[in-house]
Amino acid sequence: MAKKAKPAGEKPVEALSLKEAKAEHVRLELQIEQHDRRYYQQDKPTISDADYDALRRRYEAIELAFPDLRTLTSLSHKVGAAPSGKFKKVRHAVPMLSLGNAFSAEDVTDFVERVRRFLRLSEKDDLVITAEPKIDGLSCSIRYEQGKLAVAATRGDGAEGEDVTANIRTIKDIPHELKGKGVPDVFEARGEVYMTKEDFLALNKRQEQEGKALYVNPRNTAAGSLRQIDPNMTAQRPLKFFAYTWGEASHPPADTQSESVAMMKRWGLPVNALMVKCRSVEELLAHYRKIESERAKLPYDIDGVVYKVDRLDWQERLGFVSRSPRWAIAHKFAAEKATTIVKAIEIQVGRTGKLTPVAKLEPVTVGGVVVQNATLHNEDEIERLGVRVGDTVTIQRAGDVIPQVLGVVEDKPRGKKQYECPKTCPICGSHAVREDGEVDRRCTGGLVCPAQEVQTLIHFVSRNAFDIDGLGEKQIEFFFEKGWVRQPADIFTLEKRNGKIKLENEEGFGATSVRNLFDAINVRRKIAFNRVLFALGIRHIGETNATRLARHYGTMEALREAALASGAGDADALAEMNNVNGIGEIVAEAVVEFFKEKKNMKALDALLAEIEIEPMEAVAKDSAVSGKTVVFTGALEQMTRDEAKAMAERLGAKVAGSVSKKTDYVVAGPGAGSKLKEAQKHGVAVLSEDDWFKLIGKK
Ligand code: IVH
Repeated sequence: MAKKAKPAGEKPVEALSLKEAKAEHVRLELQIEQHDRRYYQQDKPTISDADYDALRRRYEAIELAFPDLRTLTSLSHKVGAAPSGKFKKVRHAVPMLSLGNAFSAEDVTDFVERVRRFLRLSEKDDLVITAEPKIDGLSCSIRYEQGKLAVAATRGDGAEGEDVTANIRTIKDIPHELKGKGVPDVFEARGEVYMTKEDFLALNKRQEQEGKALYVNPRNTAAGSLRQIDPNMTAQRPLKFFAYTWGEASHPPADTQSESVAMMKRWGLPVNALMVKCRSVEELLAHYRKIESERAKLPYDIDGVVYKVDRLDWQERLGFVSRSPRWAIAHKFAAEKATTIVKAIEIQVGRTGKLTPVAKLEPVTVGGVVVQNATLHNEDEIERLGVRVGDTVTIQRAGDVIPQVLGVVEDKPRGKKQYECPKTCPICGSHAVREDGEVDRRCTGGLVCPAQEVQTLIHFVSRNAFDIDGLGEKQIEFFFEKGWVRQPADIFTLEKRNGKIKLENEEGFGATSVRNLFDAINVRRKIAFNRVLFALGIRHIGETNATRLARHYGTMEALREAALASGAGDADALAEMNNVNGIGEIVAEAVVEFFKEKKNMKALDALLAEIEIEPMEAVAKDSAVSGKTVVFTGALEQMTRDEAKAMAERLGAKVAGSVSKKTDYVVAGPGAGSKLKEAQKHGVAVLSEDDWFKLIGKK
């Protein structure tokens, strides 16, 4: 990380006279107290966390240099331990993932069938699935070492969260020590921190009586409470916890999900009492309906029911896809709805040039959140809905999904003019065309369309890409408009150019926040290959495909070489890319197109001059098949094809769809045909399923 420089315009603490220090100490104290009130009590902070932290750091530095100023009334006493200003980061030993969603009975049936297929269960085989409420709080991982609470962390981006140990310790529900038989040496209890409806209402009543701003909903209040810098503040908020799974554990609590939860309860962790074991889709749906009918009476907010395969050995076989387990799913309750008026219809231009009509709405609260925009998807949808500016419409919001317009309320006054989609891009004026068979209209401005450039940059810094603290949509738009950032590399040269730019003089950018921004940018100069690949915004390259390619090629140079060779007609190189598990022709073509474009290569090289890409680590570096290319063929008998692929990938192997001279192993079941012949032709090792299990140490 870059060294923190002194913000411009601030005298170093060592250079302050006692008189100056005293004056500044008082001024800072007043400022900090004012911001504390706005943040903690009014929930309306007027400065960024980073700027607040800077004030506190300066305040402490002054007290350190002038100890006499540290009187009993000093803020440093009020908060107990001097706040670090920020939470430390904690890397999760086992990633904290999220859940896939089911919205209908059909989705639930699909889930159960998928699981059965993957495990190759026959109709006679019993498949037990647990069903329990989905708590609307925030997930947290609490690590016990030798039974003692050691570290607690928020989920963060799943790989790394924030250290909230001190705050978690103030939650009465959570034991500081696990008791009873069989407590593992290391056990990370994972679950949901939440606030009961009753406590939330009482808190708001107090706020009201004191003439303070009201909190929006229990979930946000719980989240805000857990992320208080001062644990004393958290202690005053009545938070609770339900444990429902675990992360790293020296041994699992039991053999099944349900017994594991029972075991966690025995060790002293609070668990939800509404979990049942089901043996069919009908039983799952019956429990779903039961919980839904009790929802309003439950003491805490829930937003669905979570189903989990009960047997842990089956959970392990099922594994994960992208960020969610194959062995669990969240069956969400129906979305909340509201009606409001369409004030305007605007067109947004996305990263790929897609024009999306968006309804600008009279603000309305849906499920505790104020909604002002709702997507209309495309022009066919506008026509289907018959929506016009001035209409009253029904909208719905489900979880984090973008609010949608469901339909026009016919018996309310109607808008007069039928809406017509523009045929040119509202941003760059280029033709916007809708190709045959396509529902979307796209701007043809490509590289000259600022909207696409801006959206590409916004994507570049987004959470699962470069994830730069303090550099979001607003800042990117502002920097772009000013001409300071036009391509990704410019982000990394901003600091060097700041002598001219003088960002600290712009509204909303104090000297400290500029410093923090540059620090946050510098932190990302070293970054994993899959993130960079995802960040580039290549068509069809989402997180999963980025990771597949990154794992297969290992470095940007290898990928570029393969793409350029493919583009130049090297059939082997193209076949190899097509064959990377899950990639296929369309995606491979998009990658080749991206690398063929000179402008892209110029931008990429400029970026590479600024950053260091960490080569992609295979999932398991030390497995016998890590880094090897494997092809499965024929009828596998001990595992399904999906399971075989997932297992190989978990062990760090690359799974390909066809055999070439680069293949290391062909695992062949009965009936293997042409691939087996290809293997023999290239002298590739052919394994039976048993050989495969021996090779990976499972037999
Ligand atoms: S199990 C591998 N069970 O919902 C993920 N999650 O939408 C295992 N959540 O990130 C999660 N109640 O924060 C699980 N009973 C429950 C839950 C639950 C709430 C949250 C959790 C998760 C999110 C996914």
